[in-house]
Amino acid sequence: MKKDAIQIGIIGFGTVGAGTAAILLNRQKTLEKKLGFPIRIKHIADLDVKRSRGLKLPKGMLIKDSKKILYDPEIDIVVELIGGIHPAKELIISALKQGKHIVTANKALLAESGKAIFDTAAKCGRDIGYEASVAGSIPIIKVVRESLIGNKITSIFGIINGTANYILTKMTEEGVEFATVLKEAQSLGYAEADPTFDIEGVDSAHKLTLMASLSFGLPLSFKKIYTEGITRITPLDIEFASEFGYRIKLLAIAKQVDNEVELRVHPTMIPQDDLISSVNGVFNAIYIEGDAAGAGLYYGRGAGDMPTGSAVVSDIVDIARNIKTGAVERLQGIGTSVNPALRIKKMEDIRTCYYLRMSAMDKPGVLSKISGILGSNNISIKSMIQKGRNKEEAVTLVMMTHEAREKDMVRALKQINRLSIVSDKTMYLRVEGGEDSNGRH
Ligand code: HSE
Repeated sequence: MKKDAIQIGIIGFGTVGAGTAAILLNRQKTLEKKLGFPIRIKHIADLDVKRSRGLKLPKGMLIKDSKKILYDPEIDIVVELIGGIHPAKELIISALKQGKHIVTANKALLAESGKAIFDTAAKCGRDIGYEASVAGSIPIIKVVRESLIGNKITSIFGIINGTANYILTKMTEEGVEFATVLKEAQSLGYAEADPTFDIEGVDSAHKLTLMASLSFGLPLSFKKIYTEGITRITPLDIEFASEFGYRIKLLAIAKQVDNEVELRVHPTMIPQDDLISSVNGVFNAIYIEGDAAGAGLYYGRGAGDMPTGSAVVSDIVDIARNIKTGAVERLQGIGTSVNPALRIKKMEDIRTCYYLRMSAMDKPGVLSKISGILGSNNISIKSMIQKGRNKEEAVTLVMMTHEAREKDMVRALKQINRLSIVSDKTMYLRVEGGEDSNGRH
């Protein structure tokens, strides 16, 4: 193997860019020893060349103009770490056309516009590494692409957004309202100034899009994912969940049964004794079940400069080794093995257990009215608690149901919410795991 260096150019010197550069610069010698050839950062491009990132770069490495990277014939791999759709998409496509391989952490771009990018990469015979786009340091893309290659993947269940998990954990531990924790998380720098993607489930849906495509052979299906965030969760729901033996987590779920795949992101009640219930704070965890391997749980840091930088470096090294051994196009892209028979199950057809919290008058016949509506919509109650006793005002009724169809639940809730004895809109959450569930592992 030739000993000359693989040269890389990094576009974007923010949090992840700095983490990646720190690893490559500080571990230069050890990496070279392990690989048998050096990996060198030729340039890092960023519009801000003044701000200190706490890293001493060799003179001339940091530049403003990303074109210098795109059109430098010596650069083998372009690492895109600016995030967002534009101009990241255009930069990646031009880099591919210039014969560069790509490493990116940009899940939004790949989930929403990945087809054009993977098609261009295939046309140009170049690889795209995107390990860092899902779950930070957890090597989940490698697990699906390589370790579980001999399996038919049947399900994916994961906490893949650290910000939402941090907020739910704090609400659970301290009994505080969503808005209070969000403000605190923003002031500590855990949540973005605009946290919409994290708290509304969009970031999880981006990541699920990539994992589901790779795992099941689906086309990229971001727009078809049912996505619901955590903004309506209250400390009261967390407390009731705990009384029933559950925790509330924002889960990304993909399950394949026959030729149908369920794809959904929503707050979910899971049994307290399930391992994933103890995944707290900014940590991520993903169950993947394969028909040969069974279920495995992968846990680690899902964000941050060094954890995400660690994933970026693993892709750079993978591609560098492929270049050196003449094995480019070894990294399986997304959309390369689409199964045309698969379809995405409509949300209204999914079956799950439910938690319901209602405010109803405490009068004779109230319960029979509510349970009558549930019964006539094929929904069977598993357990129930009532809090308080007040003839004048509404009391809180909480129910857990057996497995029911989403469509039936939505219809039943419309009827229940119309009752004059029910004061507020009924809160409902889906429940996974436990004796009654339609099975995770
Ligand atoms: N915003 C993401 C999270 C990290 O909170 O998990 C980057 O994917």
